[in-house]
Amino acid sequence: MKAIVAVDMNWGIGFKGDLLQRIPEDMKFFKQMTVGKVVVMGRNTFESLPTSNPLKDRTNIVLSKNRSFNHDKVIVCESQSQLVQKLDKYSTDDVFVIGGEAIYTMLLPFCNEAYITKIESRYSADKYFENLDKRDTWKLVSSSDVKFYEGIRYRFLKYVNQIRQCKP
Ligand SMILES: NC(=O)c1ccc[n+]([C@@H]2O[C@H](COP(=O)([O-])OP(=O)(O)OC[C@H]3O[C@@H](n4cnc5c(N)ncnc54)[C@H](OP(=O)(O)O)[C@@H]3O)[C@@H](O)[C@H]2O)c1
Repeated sequence: MKAIVAVDMNWGIGFKGDLLQRIPEDMKFFKQMTVGKVVVMGRNTFESLPTSNPLKDRTNIVLSKNRSFNHDKVIVCESQSQLVQKLDKYSTDDVFVIGGEAIYTMLLPFCNEAYITKIESRYSADKYFENLDKRDTWKLVSSSDVKFYEGIRYRFLKYVNQIRQCKP
């Protein structure tokens, strides 16, 4: 299982239900990494997608405890254990955790890789990703060159979890 996320310098990821920043090349990277794969997200993140539609060409799994939440093109899981059952038929390498804060927090211990788009700015945020630089078990293994979008500097980073994962 892998996490994919865009963070700012404070490891902020969202504010008032939306992303902190939209960078076209990051959106392209996200698509390239996840197309054909399974994406796991929380209900808030699902509802923040454009027109609340599932991500195209991906198996969309949405976590929600709300039994009235339903969507014909997504798999809904009411609990972590139900998620484990649903994920059983997929290779763990094909599963991407795509947010938000609640779902990253719950599933990060079961991720072996994290693809972090590090935006070198600071925004007002109310949702965060774990600061992997403060976690001994996570190691930065690669970084792109610095990139620019409308004066904003950002990089694509990859971290690896050195603890061997078990299933969630
Ligand atoms: N920067 C990025 O890359 C990135 C990526 C994704 C999201 N975000 C941002 O993150 C924010 C959303 O994060 P969030 O923490 O508010 O919401 P979230 O993680 O997207 O969703 C939380 C919801 O997931 C459901 N849930 C959580 N744990 C569950 C469990 N164990 N079993 C079943 N359902 C469970 C609950 O839904 P119910 O209330 O329906 O029970 C909960 O309210 C937004 O600002 C968004 O833009 C940023």
